[in-house]
Amino acid sequence: MQSDFNTLNLLLDLKILQPQILHAEQINSTNTYFLQNRSHPNGTVLLADYQTGGKGRHGRVWHSPPEQALLFSVLLTELYNRAFLHVYTFLAAVAVYEGLELLGRGAFKLDLKWPNDVLLEGRKLCGILVQNRLVGNEMSQIVIGTGINVNQPANFFIGELSQGTSLNAVLGKSMDRIEVLKQVLVALDRWLFILGDSGETAIFNRWKAICSSIGKKVLVNDGQQIYAGTFKDLSNQGGLVLETEDQCRVFYAADVTLAKETSYVGCD
Ligand code: BTN
Repeated sequence: MQSDFNTLNLLLDLKILQPQILHAEQINSTNTYFLQNRSHPNGTVLLADYQTGGKGRHGRVWHSPPEQALLFSVLLTELYNRAFLHVYTFLAAVAVYEGLELLGRGAFKLDLKWPNDVLLEGRKLCGILVQNRLVGNEMSQIVIGTGINVNQPANFFIGELSQGTSLNAVLGKSMDRIEVLKQVLVALDRWLFILGDSGETAIFNRWKAICSSIGKKVLVNDGQQIYAGTFKDLSNQGGLVLETEDQCRVFYAADVTLAKETSYVGCD
């Protein structure tokens, strides 16, 4: 894939991520680019103003109008603690949450939704897609792709997007995407360092401390059946541990809603 990049120096003091980031006005997908190009060092960040083929989870398309969302991927070639893929999803969600918390200073209510969404006022603000490249059976590269809705107006979120939201839609003002990116990258860098230093338990514990549906009654739809129970915990591989009347079940791919909700709050 051919792409024209310019570089932006964010002048951040980072341990793992590169403060000099790549920027493309248009690209197919920042994730796909990294999966197909081996030449960049560990911690390279690629930011795009627009993606013509943005990827979501489960093979879905990730749509964002030009220059309104924050669309970026981080390439990792040195794998911290050789943590399995799932942990990077939780790590990125925690980092987005913390970066935005700092930016918002209490002006809005953020939450996490298992497994990979960041919610703003109960609606999907951010999606995360972690992908990897295998060499043999070994994971050789990880790409953490993040899409944060920043400046889409409220009326963008209609029809199939009606469960989404943006910072602009909630705050009623547009924001500088680079300022948002800086906060998120600082938090991402910190959590990558923590992963290397302390391992994945620290990530899972932080995620659980933030996620408001832990300990609550939820409905889990695994595509075949809907299970009602209590969201007890994360398994040590990031699975959702559901306590039902008769047993504990662990889910690795499913959709979760709070049991008392009448409408669906996620976008996945
Ligand atoms: C989801 O389905 O919730 C995950 C969406 C992830 C979208 C981001 S945007 C930047 C990066 N590049 C992609 O093609 N996808 C991810």
